[in-house]
Amino acid sequence: MFIGIDLGTSSIKMILVDYEQNILATSIASLTVQNPKDGFSEQNPSEWIEATFECLEALKSKKPKEFSETISIGISGHMHGATLIDDKGSVIRPCILWNDTRSHQECIEFENQSFDVRSLSGNIAMPGFTAPKINWLKNNEKESFNKIFKVLLPKDYLRFYLTGEYYSEMSDASGTLWLDVKKRKWSEKLLSCSFLESKHMPNLVEGNQETGILKSTFKDKLQFKHNVKVVGGAGDNAAAAVGMGITEPNQSFISLGTSGVFFAPTKDFLSNTGDAVHSFCHCLPNKWHLMSVMLSASNCLDWVCSVTNTSIEQTLKNVESFYSKKDSISNAPFFLPYLSGERTPHNDPHIRGSFHSIKTFTDSTNLQYAVIEGVSFGILDGVNSILKVNSDFENIFMVGGGSRSSFWIELLSTLLNRKLSVCEQSEFGAALGVARLGMYVDDNINYENEIIREIKVSKEFQPKSSNMDLLIKRYTIWKDLYTSNKKNILTI
Ligand code: XUL
Repeated sequence: MFIGIDLGTSSIKMILVDYEQNILATSIASLTVQNPKDGFSEQNPSEWIEATFECLEALKSKKPKEFSETISIGISGHMHGATLIDDKGSVIRPCILWNDTRSHQECIEFENQSFDVRSLSGNIAMPGFTAPKINWLKNNEKESFNKIFKVLLPKDYLRFYLTGEYYSEMSDASGTLWLDVKKRKWSEKLLSCSFLESKHMPNLVEGNQETGILKSTFKDKLQFKHNVKVVGGAGDNAAAAVGMGITEPNQSFISLGTSGVFFAPTKDFLSNTGDAVHSFCHCLPNKWHLMSVMLSASNCLDWVCSVTNTSIEQTLKNVESFYSKKDSISNAPFFLPYLSGERTPHNDPHIRGSFHSIKTFTDSTNLQYAVIEGVSFGILDGVNSILKVNSDFENIFMVGGGSRSSFWIELLSTLLNRKLSVCEQSEFGAALGVARLGMYVDDNINYENEIIREIKVSKEFQPKSSNMDLLIKRYTIWKDLYTSNKKNILTI
């Protein structure tokens, strides 16, 4: 048996799978995020530990016999978070998360070097990434900075807690900005931009390699029979890709979660820093991927539902019938989905969301439509940014909460003019991905090439020509709105 742990931003999800990759049990425990100031986003690592054990106990009580036969654990997690550890192995301060934008000034400082930081890291310094967060701490919380013994990504802190070992793996390490993504090793040069050295980093492995075994106290507490191995695992997007069987350049996926992601594997290292594309290692040896990231995707939908006091279900119904009338679409307002800044393609932590072209007859359904359309336009921006350097992807799979809405996927399929496939069990995709990585270290498995399989498609959506021209016309207008909005950022 194999356990997959997915440390998400709002919850931990866990699965127990057997040798045939049947999901025997699942568990979820929620997590909270603290926003002590505008743009600040933090989490207390002790919550991750509590939620992890709650989920492990839940799996154990659902399938005690199978649980006790666990061979390995794979861990996935939200990327980029800076978890600072002192020389006693204690957490120094709350983890600064991927969607925290406080370090925009430090991004400039990080890149202001005598060498080209972008070409070495393959990425732009963005406040979401780990490195500028450390520069911010040096400038604003010197005491915490001075205590740093190791900087760990969220899932790697969980690993450290479970095994006592300091390890990371290539996919998550790529999001720090300290990795030489092409050579798959820590870069002393990039680390020096944050006043750190490789001694402050965990060891590196590939996602399917062993990083240690579960501490004996936990083995006894949870009544495991074997010494449970813990593998490298993956950042949440690479893990979701493996969960869907997406490791080859002809495959890709769109995730409509809190953030909106387009993920495309590549056979070599490629980058497009001009459009703030993320250029990362995949979690398997000799594989890389490109990724566009929108900071606010389905949370724009949550936001408009709350301000219009309508449930998500009702909103999607309203918008679906609205979308069937061309005239309504032509007269709809526009929405820029930048509630907390944007990464791809703008790399702009200051931009904020806005409605445009409000008319006397604009009602809540108009606004709801504009939000769904605006998020979809943001996804198209991401796909177009990746297309500039890589057009190998043919199949696009859909995951994340938003992928449950048939209407939304149909709109996206039309806008992208591509077939989109929805898969089964997408909620546990990342957990399944890392459970699969865990299978590589089982000595009884001699079918390594068959561990990663493409997940079953439950429904396919084809573009509909009827609204295509209209959507593209509206996209062209929408794109110009960013430039005019950028000039008018309202701050007091
Ligand atoms: C990727 C990113 C997010 C987080 C949270 O670069 O910041 O997808 O991993 O899910």
